[in-house]
Amino acid sequence: MPPPIEALYHGAKSPFPLEGGHAAVPCVECHATRSASGRLVFEQVATQCSTCHVDPHAGKQGPRCDTCHLAVDWRSRRAR
Ligand code: HEC
Ligand code: HEC
Ligand code: HEC
Repeated sequence: MPPPIEALYHGAKSPFPLEGGHAAVPCVECHATRSASGRLVFEQVATQCSTCHVDPHAGKQGPRCDTCHLAVDWRSRRAR
């Protein structure tokens, strides 16, 4: 079992499960924002998707790919 915070945000039933290709991705690869004292700031969620994924929208949809896309594949879309 992952620690509670990971299960809540990244467990199997969470909005963005860390499965498949993301299972081995370190937190900091997606949550790169740090406070002045150097701590990771998770509230600044995941703006780093395009460091690993090609953005076919050329930035026009913004950096938060996960607001529209699920973690499983790019074809499934979030219900809105
Ligand atoms: C592949 C990218 C990715 C990785 C790796 C990742 N996260 Fe996330 N994280 C996200 C996304 C996307 C969300 C927003 C999910 C949602 O819709 O609530 C999120 C949300 C969170 C939140 C909730 C933030 C908030 O205030 O809403 C926490 C806490 C968090 N992640 C912690 C972690 C931890 C700890 C790790 C490492 C074990 C980690 N994340 C690894 C993409 C990632
Ligand atoms: C505001 C919603 C929204 C955001 C944000 C968004 N997308 Fe999309 N994306 C879509 C929609 C809708 C489609 C399907 C229509 C299209 O192809 O333009 C799509 C299609 C795609 C596809 C093609 C999927 C296929 O059919 O094979 C990829 C890949 C993709 N997006 C990646 C990204 C990445 C990477 C980001 C973040 C940098 C991102 N998207 C941000 C809405 C969004
Ligand atoms: C450190 C690199 C890295 C980061 C950052 C990252 N991913 Fe991924 N992602 C991967 C790898 C590796 C895979 C598995 C191989 C593949 O399918 O491209 C993957 C797979 C995916 C897939 C499934 C691809 C498919 O086959 O349809 C989606 C969707 C996805 N990522 C979305 C995201 C979103 C959204 C973010 C930002 C919140 C993100 N990723 C951040 C490395 C990353």
